[in-house]
Amino acid sequence: MRVIQVPNAQEMNRWAAAHIIQLVQTQPPSVLGFATGSTPEGIYRELVADHRQNGTSYKEVVTFNLDEYVGLKRDHPNSYHTYMQTRLFDHLDCVSHRTHIPAGDATDLAAECHRYEQQISRYGGIDLQLLGIGRNGHIGFNEPGTSFDSRTHVVKLTESTRNANAHFFQRKEEIPTHAITMGIASILSSRQILLLAAGHTKAEAIARLIEGPVDADFPASALKQHSDVTVLADESACQHLA
Ligand code: F6R
Repeated sequence: MRVIQVPNAQEMNRWAAAHIIQLVQTQPPSVLGFATGSTPEGIYRELVADHRQNGTSYKEVVTFNLDEYVGLKRDHPNSYHTYMQTRLFDHLDCVSHRTHIPAGDATDLAAECHRYEQQISRYGGIDLQLLGIGRNGHIGFNEPGTSFDSRTHVVKLTESTRNANAHFFQRKEEIPTHAITMGIASILSSRQILLLAAGHTKAEAIARLIEGPVDADFPASALKQHSDVTVLADESACQHLA
């Protein structure tokens, strides 16, 4: 696991965006795994700015998002479909049938999970998966205790994760209780993984990830079993590292 420490979130955004842009330009058609949440927002802004200024094209790019809330319609303001559309896809030249996000409003959720895995396989797997990290070590919505063999599945969200995402919602009751997420084995199948962390609230998780053991109670530790993981973190997120 390679650790790259940068001074601040802005540098993290620039580094990650440059890495993605290089992959898109040198290895078409790239299959990118995207995340939502606060951490990647600045990276998506950088990708949009680069597309406007330098014309980097995403027409050939295929994308798969990590997760989606169960029960929200695609066009719900808090769905991850809306998040990706408004922050990224609407501003790039992506082709809509090549951007994939689990359908949290599917009537048969188990079938949707199976379909999603098949789609990833059909495109030959993910070249680069972006990840954020939860304070409890979750990756995607894989909460502590999730099997490292898990594939795309439905999860019940913990209270801590619901609370961490509360700022995206008007009222607590609106926060969904379940989500569809790529599993830990799905994530580990990606050829390359870039985990991002900025700010002091991630410092304990980053220290445990880098210095702690592989432990099912800390899902991100599964990444130690992958041969090409980069942890890109700012100084605040690295403050507990020895
Ligand atoms: C988002 C996701 C989550 C977040 C994690 C960190 O698609 O899968 O695992 O990456 O909860 O969230 P932020 O970036 O909001 O701190």
